[in-house]
Amino acid sequence: MISKRVKNIELSGIRKLFEMADERTINLGIGQPDFQPPEGAIEAYHEALRDGKNGYGSTYGIQELRTEIADEYSKYRPGISKDNVLINVGATQSFKIVMGSFLEEGEEVLYPEPGFVLYNSQIKLGGGEPVPYPIKQEHDFIPQLEDLEERRTSKTKAIIINSPSNPTGGIIPKKDVKNISAWAEEHDMMIFSDEVYEKMVYEREHVSFLEEYENVVMTNSFSKTFAMTGWRVGFIITQKNWIEELGKVNYYTIACPPTPTQYAVLHALKKETDFLNDMVDTFQKRRDVIVERLNEIPGFDCLKPEGAFYVFPSFDFDMSAEELTMKLLEHNVLATPGTAFGPSGEGHIRFSYANSTENINKAMDIVENLVNDLR
Ligand SMILES: Cc1ncc(COP(=O)(O)O)c(C=O)c1O
Repeated sequence: MISKRVKNIELSGIRKLFEMADERTINLGIGQPDFQPPEGAIEAYHEALRDGKNGYGSTYGIQELRTEIADEYSKYRPGISKDNVLINVGATQSFKIVMGSFLEEGEEVLYPEPGFVLYNSQIKLGGGEPVPYPIKQEHDFIPQLEDLEERRTSKTKAIIINSPSNPTGGIIPKKDVKNISAWAEEHDMMIFSDEVYEKMVYEREHVSFLEEYENVVMTNSFSKTFAMTGWRVGFIITQKNWIEELGKVNYYTIACPPTPTQYAVLHALKKETDFLNDMVDTFQKRRDVIVERLNEIPGFDCLKPEGAFYVFPSFDFDMSAEELTMKLLEHNVLATPGTAFGPSGEGHIRFSYANSTENINKAMDIVENLVNDLR
């Protein structure tokens, strides 16, 4: 009875692996900050609940939050207002309604591979055809125009971009943002830009696709920015007329984003820059540790990623990414096989550094010993 569209998608394999971990496992598989949300935001949440902000709100999100977001993001696209902003239940739901609202049946969408697990299935659920494009270590994990052009057909509607990237931690420099935007514009394609790790950048400033091209739909989220993955608040910024249409779909899927949570997020956005800066500093220090440790282990080759909180080293041991991950798990280190992010992730493993430096060092000792045994 279930539709082909739904039968055609699978739950991410990562979950099965995660279920095998126990309390002794050092978890470097995790896709969320190992922080609690800022105290002030938790207090603001309580306050909203007590102040009676418990009813339905606008399907587009509360005005104050939309306006605050518009003010901040006008640095990328001058002149935007709250009408360019739609609040959602995280980037996951944003993607669902974006795919469902822009795609006609059979239209193709280019997406990064290896890339975040959502894209392929979300495109299919929206009635589109997913077309992977490669992301390679030899190119610093930056999409290459030739690869995109090779995959473009008359049916290509849009391209999904993710910078900073999960799983690679790669970021797309300004020159490439400009080139990809110009290419999309030339061929009248949309850009769906997933910028949820925007604030987690180290050496460089984040470059938003919003700056470069009109037909960009930017999805973003507070999940990672304020360590509130379970609070489920994200947003979309794009053209006003599109926000109006997407809002209709919001109404029929969620009625409205949760009201008290939006007030808590509003507080965080206004007052918790120090929290964010401290968290990003901590991630940067851990990144330096894990990159150095991995590159000291023969067989691993790890770039120094400039964003997010993942490293995605390649390895040259005679085993698959899944076998290596299973071996690590037997020794109480949980990582994610590169293939969880698409078949071209073979030969890679993703370590998240959303864990303490002490645990990262312990895990790297284990990896080092295991690799010595393997060799
Ligand atoms: C690249 C990327 N996009 C989107 C999401 C989903 O974020 P949200 O919690 O806002 O749904 C994640 C979560 O891991 C992610 O890594």
